Amino acid sequence: MPIRHLRHLWSIIAYSWRAIGPRRIATRLLAYSTDADARAADSGFDARFGTDTTTGLTPVEAALPAARRRGATMYLPSMDADLDAMLTALAWPDALLRAATFVDVGSGKGRALFLAAMRPFRATRGVELSPVLHAIAERNLAIMRRHRALAAPIELELGDATALAVPPGPLVLYLYHPFREPIAAKVIDRVVAAVAARPRPAAILYGHPTLQRPLDDDVFCRGGMFRRCHAGARVTRSFRIGWSIWTNQAWLVDVPGAPAALAVGA
Ligand SMILES: C[S@@+](CC[C@H](N)C(=O)[O-])C[C@H]1O[C@@H](n2cnc3c(N)ncnc32)[C@H](O)[C@@H]1O
Repeated sequence: MPIRHLRHLWSIIAYSWRAIGPRRIATRLLAYSTDADARAADSGFDARFGTDTTTGLTPVEAALPAARRRGATMYLPSMDADLDAMLTALAWPDALLRAATFVDVGSGKGRALFLAAMRPFRATRGVELSPVLHAIAERNLAIMRRHRALAAPIELELGDATALAVPPGPLVLYLYHPFREPIAAKVIDRVVAAVAARPRPAAILYGHPTLQRPLDDDVFCRGGMFRRCHAGARVTRSFRIGWSIWTNQAWLVDVPGAPAALAVGA
């Protein structure tokens, strides 16, 4: 086995040891290796486009700054079916999607962003802390553009989610379990402050694919702006991908002067 594969394996074991503990590593590895449904959930995105979005990278391999590694999760791509399920449950009308920006916080190699940009969003934006993943995402984006597979513009940004610049207009914020509560709290606070300053429809889509504990609901309720409106899961024999959707619809209805058409559409 080439030395880089051994290094990758070691990095995954070290990460999982800390994240889920040695006993669960063994049982989960065994379960996953015999779980055809779980492995089949990857719809072949890379095979279709020739991109590199599938292989996981730990925070060490992704060269995250040491101070951010503990709070971060490892890179794993979203699966088409899960993002589809979340956007279908959100059920924003086309007119609202066409006015909205989709922001993937912790965009990794860009898979979720590419899937979103195949829909009629006004714009899509990914923010990723890892220079390694950001560079791969840029290469993938060039490939996707050659395929002319994207309907919406994409912007990739190398940066820390805690300094997120919230775009104007209707907002769909996507979090695929990128980090733990302390960082998530800072991100939600920024979103709440930006949306309170310029009221508009906003939604948070949160997927939690890992074997780790999902983010506490309290994080999404910070500032009293977002309420959970849907939740779901895809369960295979060896793991569960859960998701929840939070919107500011109820909050918006009570905001004097909020655009009525958008409030109804949210
Ligand atoms: C589970 S991956 C999700 C990848 C992508 N969103 C997708 O769904 O395909 C989480 C990503 O969050 C990134 N991340 C972790 N901490 C971050 C931070 N403070 N700011 C920006 N990105 C961060 C990780 O490097 C990793 O790429």
